[in-house]
Amino acid sequence: MREQRKLDHLNLALQSNKSERYLSFDELHFIHRSLPEMDVQECNVNVNLGGLNLTSPLIINAMTGGAFSTEQINHDLAVIAKETGMALAVGSQKAALRNHKLIRTYEVVRKVNPKGIIFANVSADSTVEDALEAIEMVQADMLQLHLNIPQELVMPEGDRHFKGMIEKIHHIKEKVPVSVIVKEVGFGMCKETYETLKGIGIHIIDVGGKGGTNFAWIENQRREGKDFDFINEWGQSTVVSLIESAKYQTEIDFISSGGIRNPLDMVKSFALGAKAIGLASPVLSLLKEQGVEKAIHRIQNWHEQIKLIMTMLGKPRVEKLVNASLVVTGTTKEWCECRNIEYKSYAKRM
Ligand SMILES: Cc1cc2nc3c(=O)[nH]c(=O)nc-3n(C[C@H](O)[C@H](O)[C@H](O)COP(=O)(O)O)c2cc1C
Repeated sequence: MREQRKLDHLNLALQSNKSERYLSFDELHFIHRSLPEMDVQECNVNVNLGGLNLTSPLIINAMTGGAFSTEQINHDLAVIAKETGMALAVGSQKAALRNHKLIRTYEVVRKVNPKGIIFANVSADSTVEDALEAIEMVQADMLQLHLNIPQELVMPEGDRHFKGMIEKIHHIKEKVPVSVIVKEVGFGMCKETYETLKGIGIHIIDVGGKGGTNFAWIENQRREGKDFDFINEWGQSTVVSLIESAKYQTEIDFISSGGIRNPLDMVKSFALGAKAIGLASPVLSLLKEQGVEKAIHRIQNWHEQIKLIMTMLGKPRVEKLVNASLVVTGTTKEWCECRNIEYKSYAKRM
């Protein structure tokens, strides 16, 4: 059943990506300055995430492995990662932890990209033993622990027990030899969650916001009767999740992900304090629709386009973008007002 579910996710994710979603990035507007006083060639897109230097600020986020036919997809994603310098997260490794014949569908990424940055991925509900085995399987540089409670609840066969997860995350974090990234899968996060995760020593969080792949919608498509469609808009957008993180950015590195469509969304994420950008279905779509070579070319082009936007903003380094001024409007502004979050200061930066 788990194998079939992974295949359903791959197919449905490509459809959900095309459905209309609330586009929070369009509510952010950079203030154009006519005299940036810098050259494009000064720009550099290297970033540091939790102490790791990344030559690309973009991460291929967790998607697949766990069904025999996914080995080729992970192979191709690893080629893309190798050629572009992107870090790559494998999909949830639970399938291979339960059925060792499936290990090859994950470890292929390390074979293809021996020197690349690779993230292992298991549920935040996992045991330390499973986390250690998942890291070993792909010789991971970091471990992603995913949180996906709404997805589980919409899934008829999904989990119904979520007590004790904070302690489990803490325990894994204490026992594994690599940094832990706690990530959502498209429902976003809020400052209360950040406070809890900070309290157990988590230093890297992927906000996994609403706006892209929608696992409430995907799982509802898999339900008989599709009777859970009222939950489709559950969660915080990626932009809201990043704004909610502002107070925590000195202690925690945040990854912006969920519905990132283009280099402008990426640069807006950096302006809101993200250290790196996660992309799942956009890379899968590129691979499926255009193939490996064109996907590599498109991603290299994104790197160049990020630099062009950085030039317009007069910010030669990614970490300087956090000083770029932007205006917050629309639903995001209303959210900030209701949550007592100071949003006008984004427009007053120099
Ligand atoms: C086909 C597919 C499978 C996914 N499987 C996983 C998974 O196994 N583990 C996980 O943490 N996230 C998984 N995700 C979620 C992504 O990592 C990401 O958080 C989410 O898709 C939002 O990003 P996007 O809008 O760029 O797709 C999956 C996403 C897709 C599209």
